[in-house]
Amino acid sequence: MKGFNTKAVHVGQKPEGLTGAVISPIYQTSTYAQEAPGKHKGFDYTRADNPNYRNLEAAIAALEEGAYATVFSSGIGAELAVLNLLKAGDHVVAGDDLYGGTYRLFTQWGMRFGLSFDFVDGTNPKAFEKAIQKKTKLIWIETPTNPLLKTTDIKAVATIAKKKKILTVADNTFATPYFQKPLNLGAAMSLHSTTKYIGGHSDVIGGVVVTNDKKLKEKLNLARMSLGINPSPFDCWLTQRGLKTLGLRMERHQENAKAVVQFFKKHPLTKKVYYPGFGGMVSAEFKLTVDQTKKLISSFEYFTLGESLGGVESLVCHPATMTHASIPPKERVKRGLSDSLVRFSVGIEDVEDLLDDLKNTLSRFG
Ligand SMILES: Cc1ncc(COP(=O)(O)O)c(C=O)c1O
Repeated sequence: MKGFNTKAVHVGQKPEGLTGAVISPIYQTSTYAQEAPGKHKGFDYTRADNPNYRNLEAAIAALEEGAYATVFSSGIGAELAVLNLLKAGDHVVAGDDLYGGTYRLFTQWGMRFGLSFDFVDGTNPKAFEKAIQKKTKLIWIETPTNPLLKTTDIKAVATIAKKKKILTVADNTFATPYFQKPLNLGAAMSLHSTTKYIGGHSDVIGGVVVTNDKKLKEKLNLARMSLGINPSPFDCWLTQRGLKTLGLRMERHQENAKAVVQFFKKHPLTKKVYYPGFGGMVSAEFKLTVDQTKKLISSFEYFTLGESLGGVESLVCHPATMTHASIPPKERVKRGLSDSLVRFSVGIEDVEDLLDDLKNTLSRFG
């Protein structure tokens, strides 16, 4: 089975054996009957495993062209599991334009548990190399980045890391496996907030880590069970339903995002547009005060003001006060994340309606 959409529809979703139901049931159970103590059909407790986890894991692993996946309660849960591959004293080199919650996990939790972090310019593979210390065990890439949409050369960074036996994890949430497959570029792990494009409908929170390394998979499963960062069976079922249209949605997100980029580029109120050249995320700065910017983004008809991204509906957010508020203001300025930056998650609506919405709303500020 080769095609992306064919895999999205068919892998991990064979008709169910008992009744022939085309769609897998939701195994909404906490526990499983055992024939004799320890003798069971491969499942003993849902914090450890569940058929809905396995179905979703098979599908995502296939799309990422990886061997194994482990699903988690959230993207942050997946990140916590990756950090738990480390031990106190270990060092992490990370890109400097990360999702605010990732930064918070590193600095407010990771550091308390004895990990240390260096944040480097993600667009420069040499910067990762320079920051590597003897105790460096992990390189953390997020590409494209959130919210400045800068890209990291995964292959170049992973090659540097491999030479020093350091693991590389790439947060592939923004690109999705439709546009980017980090494992094929040499990363040891590809991580997602499945809350975003993979689920695709803003109705479920989840995370996943994909790898080709069986030992890592086993450790990630152990972390899920030990830390209690497992998803619910229903959430996995919902995520898998969304996943089936990932390819179709990403094409449409991208088509609409490109039209939005063109519109912004020509608009007299635009100061700067950020777009990595693919995908559905666009960031922009306008020739407006911060207060005007906040008013602007509260006034759209179809771009709902809200956190998150990657759903079928268009969203807009103000990173400095919303998704990235957990990054101290000084640190935000250092990273080029200005208070007037606006992030758009361009949905799959009719593009004429989206452009009209942007045009009409901006016209009130011109
Ligand atoms: C790039 C990226 N990684 C990870 C996360 C965290 O995922 P979750 O909200 O599912 O915990 C987010 C959330 O916005 C994100 O944007």
